Amino acid sequence: LDKADLVIVGAGFYGATIAERAANEHGLKVVIVERRGHIGGNAYSETDPDTGIEVHRYGPHIFHTPNDAVWSYLNRFTSFTDYTHRPFSVFRGQAYSLPINLATICQFFRRQLSPDEARALIAGQAAEMAGREPDNLEEKAISLIGRPLYEAFIRGYTKKQWQTDPRDLPASIISRLPVRYTFDNRYFSDPHQGMPLSGYTAIFDRMLDHENIHVLLDCDWFELRDSIPRAVPTVYTGPIDAYFGFSEGRLGWRTCDFSRSVVATGDYQGTAMMNYADEETAHTRIVEYRHFHPERDYPVDRSVIVHEYARSAGAGDEPYYPIDTLADKALYLRYRALADREPNVHFGGRLGTYRYLDMHQAIGAALKEWERLRTSEFAHGRKAP
Ligand code: FDA
Repeated sequence: LDKADLVIVGAGFYGATIAERAANEHGLKVVIVERRGHIGGNAYSETDPDTGIEVHRYGPHIFHTPNDAVWSYLNRFTSFTDYTHRPFSVFRGQAYSLPINLATICQFFRRQLSPDEARALIAGQAAEMAGREPDNLEEKAISLIGRPLYEAFIRGYTKKQWQTDPRDLPASIISRLPVRYTFDNRYFSDPHQGMPLSGYTAIFDRMLDHENIHVLLDCDWFELRDSIPRAVPTVYTGPIDAYFGFSEGRLGWRTCDFSRSVVATGDYQGTAMMNYADEETAHTRIVEYRHFHPERDYPVDRSVIVHEYARSAGAGDEPYYPIDTLADKALYLRYRALADREPNVHFGGRLGTYRYLDMHQAIGAALKEWERLRTSEFAHGRKAP
């Protein structure tokens, strides 16, 4: 560690991107300290031992981006399949296409509607909120998509995700609810999307395959921090409140419980992701991993499915989605002010900046931060470019 030019806390996409750039572009000696027993952060994938099917341990990850620079950067380490995400949602025993599109609307209202007719129907239903400022999430959703669609697809699902009645949630949680007045049922409209051909973990293996990059697994940085010379710059991608010993309080997160099982069929649900909108169904969705890679030769008599359950995160849980209430925002700003005064430490990634980031955003932010680092203290410090 004392020979390192740069220490990176966390081997997720943010940390791995900075490490790769620092070693390949700048010849820096990089040590990555990772608390878990594997690289990849939350994008880590592994092979299920019973079926050979690739499973994403921390929830399903589908790559998509509008950003050409991020797309071409990542294509140095993997090629992508043409997988296009088309999830479904079950409401009262019926499966509907998501996000809400013309097929969903026609099926739900049991008639054929043109785009204009569907738009007029939904506008009429949303008009119940006309002239009133929405007071809570329920009213906001009704003002956007009308009561019938809200009650079918948003109310129960949101209640399960937040464990709170949508009438008690702030309207600010949603600014828009995507409704497509076409039969386009692609979940992401980004020009670049797909699944990494050899899986997610293989991307990280390639990114970190450099003689100057050394990864310490099963290693909590807090246990090492006092032995690292203070002159060595650190990129910290762990939780920002943990860095400061929760001195200002704990930031709120939601977490997920994943229950994995192998089922005795080659196809359990006919698609990768089935949401469950009913409040009475405890799980929020079932993910069947084989469908992310239809090009692979997976067994025809077995499949892996994962039930997902959402809840708020306690102290020992994996933090997944920032709750981001007004109190959280204020708390984060206090930590941010402390972080700005911390010499030689750069906070990044989803945990370090208390933000939900898609993978392409984490990579994009890391590439940008690397540009800034490269041209700032590194240029004047231990190693000039
Ligand atoms: P990430 O969490 O990946 O890495 C941080 C690393 O730091 C972790 O490995 C952690 O163990 C380590 N660490 C923390 N504290 C430490 C310490 N003290 N010492 C050592 N190591 C420490 N995105 C997308 O584009 N498409 C998708 O479909 C999905 N799907 C999805 C599903 C679910 C359930 C979630 C929660 C998230 C997604 N995402 C996603 C988002 C994606 O997971 C996210 O963009 C990346 O994980 C961000 O990478 P980071 O490097 O910022 O964090």
